[in-house]
Amino acid sequence: MNLSVKIGNLKLKNPVMVASGTWGIEYEELSGLDNLGATVLKTITLKKRTGNPAPRIAETASGMLNSIGLENKGLEDFIKNKLPLFDKVSSPLVASIAGDDDVEFKELAVRLSRIKRVDALELNLSCPNIKYGLNGGLIAHDAKATYKVVKAVRGATPITVIAKLSPNVTSVAEIAKAAEAAGADAVALTNTFIGMAVDIDTKRPKLGNVTGGLSGPAIKPLSLRAVWEAYKEIGIPIVGIGGIMDAADAIEFMLCGARAVQVGTANFVNPKAPAEIVSGIKKYMTGHKIKDISSLVGALKLG
Ligand SMILES: Cc1cc2nc3c(=O)[nH]c(=O)nc-3n(C[C@H](O)[C@H](O)[C@H](O)COP(=O)(O)O)c2cc1C
Repeated sequence: MNLSVKIGNLKLKNPVMVASGTWGIEYEELSGLDNLGATVLKTITLKKRTGNPAPRIAETASGMLNSIGLENKGLEDFIKNKLPLFDKVSSPLVASIAGDDDVEFKELAVRLSRIKRVDALELNLSCPNIKYGLNGGLIAHDAKATYKVVKAVRGATPITVIAKLSPNVTSVAEIAKAAEAAGADAVALTNTFIGMAVDIDTKRPKLGNVTGGLSGPAIKPLSLRAVWEAYKEIGIPIVGIGGIMDAADAIEFMLCGARAVQVGTANFVNPKAPAEIVSGIKKYMTGHKIKDISSLVGALKLG
């Protein structure tokens, strides 16, 4: 049985990764990162960011809202203090980066590509909780801004580049096409959907930032549709993300065109979810007599 997939130059022993910002190295033993396709790290920026005001998390029906706002200690701290924690992890590492504009993204890409332990870059063009400088909103809301950033990074690094896109657009396929044209090796679909929740007793928003990103089972049909729309328009691999809780969810994404998947909110409920998803995919392949996982990608039957 072959579970391995390729994204650019990145070889994954199976298609399951953990999603950026949704797990910690403290989970390492439970998650069994070594047995996953890859480990995507929390997004970092060049300089330290303090993030958004509390509360930053609110539970909703079948999902959660977050408005962390990319709190992190910046690139230097990441290289010195965070990356060494992953020496014990054998699966490929994907560093997730965000910058104000193409210049910052390029600098992060150049610096991180020099580090052997970093196997790929995921460009977070789609955090709904910050305003990027390039276009005053989300880079992934704008095909031209997406093209500009991906092109700058592509020219600066030989390692695999995954553009993580926003679902909060009229046509996700149009933005995915811009990322492909600029040289991305893959697109990741999707980041969270912008939402809000209100405490009716205080009449205040439940999040300090008023709005936040919705994730979890509530978004799965929406992210799935985004993957399918993009799959029909682009040739590069798609990494499916959004409400994947079990193997059946992951397989749905693959049938709609995802070559790999990321598991996010499920980690908060069950840190073993990604490993269980790998086992569940194997079971499905045995049951359906599938020898190579690639044959599942885009195998959705219509009509
Ligand atoms: C608490 C929290 C923090 C997140 N932080 C990041 C982040 O730093 N960078 C990023 O690209 N996505 C971040 N995400 C988005 C997830 O990686 C993922 O795209 C999204 O949650 C949808 O997948 P899910 O429904 O499986 O959680 C975060 C999500 C949550 C819930």
